[in-house]
Amino acid sequence: MNYFSRRPRRNRQNEAIRSLVRETNVTTDDLILPLFLLEGTNKKTEVESMPGIFRLSTDLMLKEIEACMKLGIRAFDVFPVVEEKYKDKMATRSYDPKFFYLTALKQIKQEFPEALIITDVAMDPYSSDGHDGIVENGKILNDETLEVLARMTIAQAETGIDMVGPSDMMDGRVGFLRDQLDEAGFKETGIMSYTAKYASAFYGPFRDALDSAPKFGDKKTYQMDPANRREALIEAQLDIEEGADVLMVKPALAYLDIIADLKANFDLPVAAYNVSGEYAMIKAAAQKGWLDADRARDEVLTSIKRAGADMILTYFSKEFAESIHS
Ligand code: PBG
Repeated sequence: MNYFSRRPRRNRQNEAIRSLVRETNVTTDDLILPLFLLEGTNKKTEVESMPGIFRLSTDLMLKEIEACMKLGIRAFDVFPVVEEKYKDKMATRSYDPKFFYLTALKQIKQEFPEALIITDVAMDPYSSDGHDGIVENGKILNDETLEVLARMTIAQAETGIDMVGPSDMMDGRVGFLRDQLDEAGFKETGIMSYTAKYASAFYGPFRDALDSAPKFGDKKTYQMDPANRREALIEAQLDIEEGADVLMVKPALAYLDIIADLKANFDLPVAAYNVSGEYAMIKAAAQKGWLDADRARDEVLTSIKRAGADMILTYFSKEFAESIHS
């Protein structure tokens, strides 16, 4: 046998041939930037565990969005940083139209009608218990929580945003929210469902950013067990039946097989959330001089797209766009 009848290295000889045979290219079209919103004006605080990522008040966030739009990033997922004094058991601020998150969304959408603005639907930022649902005797109530989620969803839709992102993992919420949106006349408001959201250690820095860690226990009775693969197909099937527009896998890196599974089995677009801990790992190692952060970033984003993600929520969005333009 001639061992050299094939020489795969021929297609790797220089960048010209490598770029011709490259199967996956990440572009700014693929990226969604998560943003952390502060109440007030002219406020900017860095998230300690996420170097380079800032919580921003509305005025500064508008500037940030403008800068990102110029770089080709057009989709944003906005999360509110809620002070403890506003939190209560029923997350009532989440649907108060005067609350800063909702007034800011309205302003953002007015200034940037051409941007895609995604919101977060879950109780944890506003909950004194720090959980995504209503807590009673240490349990997270499912069906009662849907009512609160629906109120915040409608309140968000009223601001003019494009898409809601239920990140709570309650059963039946996609269908419930779809019905409520339609009934209220918001037929064009989309749903990006956190379809397969795992109970992950990689959300740590995000909970620092929002100060939203659960006050007791963990999220294992609603978020998925990291050991489960087939269960993601059940969640996806349900979300499709219930009317989701986009299916999301979260986190991304430790769940590339799940991204590939959803892509192979369903026809809806698949989003992957490259979460806070995945960002922090690279930044921390780079600060120690242990790896090249830019190359690690590009490799990670490429792997997520290669696995099958049509879009990636990532804190690297802006710096990735800057690296392309530089
Ligand atoms: C909560 C929510 C979380 C994230 C997005 N929405 C954290 C959690 O479930 O505790 C995590 C995002 C990240 O880590 O970047 N509804």
